Amino acid sequence: MLTFSKIVITGLALCQIGQGAQTDNNQDCHGEPGCTTSEPYLDSTLPPFRRADDLLGRMTWEEKVGQLGGIRRAFGTSNGKPVFNRTAYETTRSTQNGQIGYGPQANWAEDLLPLMNELREEQINSSRLHIPYIIVADSINGLWVSGGTVFPGSISMASSWNLPLFEEVIQASRDENAAVGINWVLSPEVDIIKDPRNGRNGEMYGEDSYLVGEFGTRYIKTMQEKDDRGYVKIAATIKHFVFGLGSGGVNRASMFGGLNHILNDLAPPYRKAIQEAQPLSLMVSYSTVDGVPMSVNKHILQDVLRNILGYKGLLMSDANAIPQLFTEAKVARSHQDAAIKALSAGLEHELNPAGTGSFTTLRCLGKDKRIVDLVDHAVRAFLEIKFATGIFDLPLPTTQHLTETVRKAKHLELNRNITRESIVMLQNQDGFLPLSKRKVSPTGKVAVIGQYADFINSGNYAPPAPYDRRYGRSFLDSFKVAFGKDNVLHANGTSTVLPNYAEDAKEKDQAAIADAVDKAKRAGLAVVFLGSGFGNFGPEYFNNERTDNEGWAHADLGFPGAQQQLLDAVLDTGVPTVLVMAAGQTFVLNRSTSRCKAIFHSWLAGEYTGDALVEILLGETNPSGKLTVTFPEANGAFPVAYDFLPSDDVGGFGTATLYDWHWPQLTRKAKLAFGFGLSYTTFSMSDVNVYLSDGGAEQKVSVSVKVTNDGDVAGKEVVQVYFRPKYSIIERPVMKLIRFAKVDLAAGESKYVQLDDIPVEELGFYVDGNWTVEEGDYSFWVGSSSREEDLQVTELSL
Ligand SMILES: *[C@@H]1O[C@H](CO)[C@@H](O)[C@H](O)[C@H]1NC(C)=O
Ligand SMILES: *[C@@H]1O[C@H](CO)[C@@H](O)[C@H](O)[C@H]1NC(C)=O
Ligand SMILES: *[C@@H]1O[C@H](CO)[C@@H](O)[C@H](O)[C@H]1NC(C)=O
Ligand SMILES: *[C@@H]1O[C@H](CO)[C@@H](O)[C@H](O)[C@H]1NC(C)=O
Ligand SMILES: *[C@@H]1O[C@H](CO)[C@@H](O)[C@H](O)[C@H]1NC(C)=O
Ligand SMILES: *[C@@H]1O[C@H](CO)[C@@H](O)[C@H](O)[C@H]1NC(C)=O
Repeated sequence: MLTFSKIVITGLALCQIGQGAQTDNNQDCHGEPGCTTSEPYLDSTLPPFRRADDLLGRMTWEEKVGQLGGIRRAFGTSNGKPVFNRTAYETTRSTQNGQIGYGPQANWAEDLLPLMNELREEQINSSRLHIPYIIVADSINGLWVSGGTVFPGSISMASSWNLPLFEEVIQASRDENAAVGINWVLSPEVDIIKDPRNGRNGEMYGEDSYLVGEFGTRYIKTMQEKDDRGYVKIAATIKHFVFGLGSGGVNRASMFGGLNHILNDLAPPYRKAIQEAQPLSLMVSYSTVDGVPMSVNKHILQDVLRNILGYKGLLMSDANAIPQLFTEAKVARSHQDAAIKALSAGLEHELNPAGTGSFTTLRCLGKDKRIVDLVDHAVRAFLEIKFATGIFDLPLPTTQHLTETVRKAKHLELNRNITRESIVMLQNQDGFLPLSKRKVSPTGKVAVIGQYADFINSGNYAPPAPYDRRYGRSFLDSFKVAFGKDNVLHANGTSTVLPNYAEDAKEKDQAAIADAVDKAKRAGLAVVFLGSGFGNFGPEYFNNERTDNEGWAHADLGFPGAQQQLLDAVLDTGVPTVLVMAAGQTFVLNRSTSRCKAIFHSWLAGEYTGDALVEILLGETNPSGKLTVTFPEANGAFPVAYDFLPSDDVGGFGTATLYDWHWPQLTRKAKLAFGFGLSYTTFSMSDVNVYLSDGGAEQKVSVSVKVTNDGDVAGKEVVQVYFRPKYSIIERPVMKLIRFAKVDLAAGESKYVQLDDIPVEELGFYVDGNWTVEEGDYSFWVGSSSREEDLQVTELSL
C-alpha cells in the first residue's frame, strides 16, 4: 500500500439524499452476552449476516456511503508523540467513517490507545445508530506502530521453513495487534517473488506458490482464530489480487498473462487460503492486467476470483487505486466515474491514505437503483466483518491489557527463536565458521565494516527508525556485547549506499574504503555488511536515498553505491572476510564476492537479528534457514525462479548457446537456488519411499524418508518434495514444491520423516478454468533443496 501522494478533490458536493428508515429508539442493549433486543443488529446472539442485514435496513444513504471508506490516519506525529488535528479529522469523518487507522509508525502504542479509545467512544456515542469504527493496520513485522515486539520481515520468517514456529509468532503478533484495538490487518501478502528487481520482495514469502500458500494460509487461520465467545480475533486481508511479473519488475506496473497463468502460477495461495482459512477480506492489486486495471477488472474479480476460486469475503481497493483510475490509468473520466466503475466491477471498500478518495462521490447517486443495490451489497459485506470481529459488542481494550500483552517474555523468546532460523548461510569455505569464541581472529579483534552494520534494516512496514536503539540492537551493537567494545573496529567504508552514485562521490569514498581496509588488516578478520533499503515510511523514506521497499524497484542487481568496491578492497587484502547481506532482496554475487570465506543473508531484521548472527558466527546456534527465493546470476537473465517452464530452458538455435540469455539463470548454474541453505553439520537422506496409498475414496501419494545428521553438532534440515507430471495438456513447470517439513536432529541421530499424504487431486492444475488432474507418469523428487544434486527421484504412475 502506498501512503504518499495526496488526493485532493475540489468542489465535492456532499449530496444529502435521505433514504432508509431513520428511527433509533432502542438504547438498552449494547452487546451484553445473551442480550436480546427488538433491534436484531444489537443482538449478539444472532449471526453476523443477520445483524448486518438488519442494520443496513436502518441506515440512511449517507451513512451507507460513509461505511465505504475511512480515516486512514487518525493521528500525525511530532517527536514520536501523536498529534491530533480535529479539523482534518472531522472533514474526513463527515464522509468516510467505516474504518480508522493509527497513522505514523513513529508513535507508540501506549500513547495511542487512550486517544484512539476516546475517538472510538465518541463515534459510537455520536453516530445515530452507534456504528463503531474498525481499526485497520498493516502487520508484517508485528505491530505497525511502535512499542510492540519487532519480528523480522516476511521473507525472513519464511526462510525458516518452520510453519509451526511461524504460527506461534503470528499468534503473538495477533495478540499485540488486538491489544491496541486492531481488528483488521492488511496482510498477508501472498504475491510471488519472480522478479529480483521488485523492491517489495521482502514483504513476500518467496518464489514458490505452494510455500507462499502454506505461510499465507497459516497467517490467516491464526489471525482469524475465534475467541471463546465465537468472535474472530482479527480479520485478515489476503493481497494483492492479482499480481504477477509487473512490467520491468515495478510493483505498480502492468502485468501480462492469460487465465492459465493467473490460475496456476499466481492464484494457488488464494485457492488454498480460500479453501482452508476463508480470509474475510482481499485487497485488489494496482496491476493492469491485459489492459484492464484490477480495480475495474470485473472479469478477473467476478469470473475468476469469485466464481472459479470461490472467494466470498470483502473486496477492498489498494490505497489510492480508485482515484488512479482517473488520474493515472485514464480509464475513468472523473472521480465519480472511477467510483462507479470500481463499484460495478465488485469493489466494496476504499482504502485511501488522505483526502476524500472516490467512493465519497457516490453520495450524489442515491437515486440510482443500480448504484444503491451495489452499495447495499458492499456495506453489508463490510458490516459482516464488524459484527464477526465483535466490535459492536466487546469493550474497548484497556491500557492495562496492552501493557500485559505487548513485548511479553514469550513473544520476545519466540522472536529470538524464529530469527535464529531466518538467517541463511550461503557459503562456508573449508569450514571457516564457526569462529572460536576464545580467539575469533589472530588478534582477538574483528573489523565490522559497512553502513549496514550499524543500522536496523527491518523494511518499511516495521516501526523502527534504522538508527533508533529502542527497537533493538544493530549488528555492531551485538558484536560489541559479544566480543567487547575494544575488540570491535568499526568502519562505514562508504559514505553512502545510493544507487545513482556519482563518480566524484566514489572518489570521496576512497578515504572511507582505505579506513575499512586498514581496520580489516589490523583485526585479521573482517565482517562486511552490505545491503539495500532505508527505514520505514518516515520522512527519510522520501529522500530517494533508497533502493528497496515499496515504490523503489532497482534495475541493477549488484550492491548499490560503492559497496562492491568496498568489499573488493577488503577481499584484496587477503584478510578472511565474512559477508552479511541485509536487505529484502537478492543480489548478483560475482566471482569477486565468492572469495568471501562465508556468506549470509540476514534479510529484513527483527530486533534480535544482530544477536542471532553473532550466535551463528560463534556456533552457539547452528544456521538452518533456507532460501525461499533463487539468487540471480546476472542482471538480465530471466526467469530466475527454479520453477520455470521446460521450454524456457532453451538457447538460440537448436542447442542452447551461452549467448542466449533466455536460458534460465544462464545455463542453470544458480547454486543459490530455492530451498538451499547450509548448516554446520551435514545431513543425508536415505530410504526414500514415494508410493501410492488408498486413503478410502481418495488416492494419495505418500512420502517417507530417513534423515540422518552425519556431523557432530545438532542441526535442523528441511525435507523438500517436488513433482512434475511427465506429460500434461498444458505446459507445466520443470518441477513444483508440494510438501516440506523441518526436522531437528541431534548429532549422529536419524529420524524417519513421514510427510503429509498428498491427495492425487492436489497434483492438478487449471485448464481454461477447469481443474484437471493428469493421469500417467509422474516424477517425485525428495531432497534438501531444488538443486538437481540435492534431490533423489522416484517415478510413479498415477
Ligand atoms: C489541520 O487540518 C486542517 C485541514 O486539513 C489544515 O488546514 C490545518 O492546517 C491543520 N492544522 C495543523 C495545526 O496542522
Ligand atoms: C460516551 O457516552 C458515555 C455514556 O453516555 C459517556 O459516559 C462517555 O463519556 C461518552 N464518551 C465520549 C468520548 O463522548
Ligand atoms: C525457543 O526455542 C527453544 C529451543 O528450541 C525452546 O526450548 C523454547 O521453548 C522456545 N521458546 C518458545 C517460546 O517457544
Ligand atoms: C558511519 O556513518 C554514520 C551515518 O552516516 C555516522 O553517524 C557514523 O559516525 C559513521 N561511523 C564511522 C565510524 O565513521
Ligand atoms: C564484481 O562486481 C563489481 C561491481 O559491479 C566489479 O567492480 C567487479 O569487477 C566484479 N568482479 C568480478 C570478479 O566480476
Ligand atoms: C470446463 O467445464 C465446464 C463445465 O464442466 C464445461 O462446460 C467447459 O466446456 C469446460 N471447459 C473446458 C475448456 O474444458
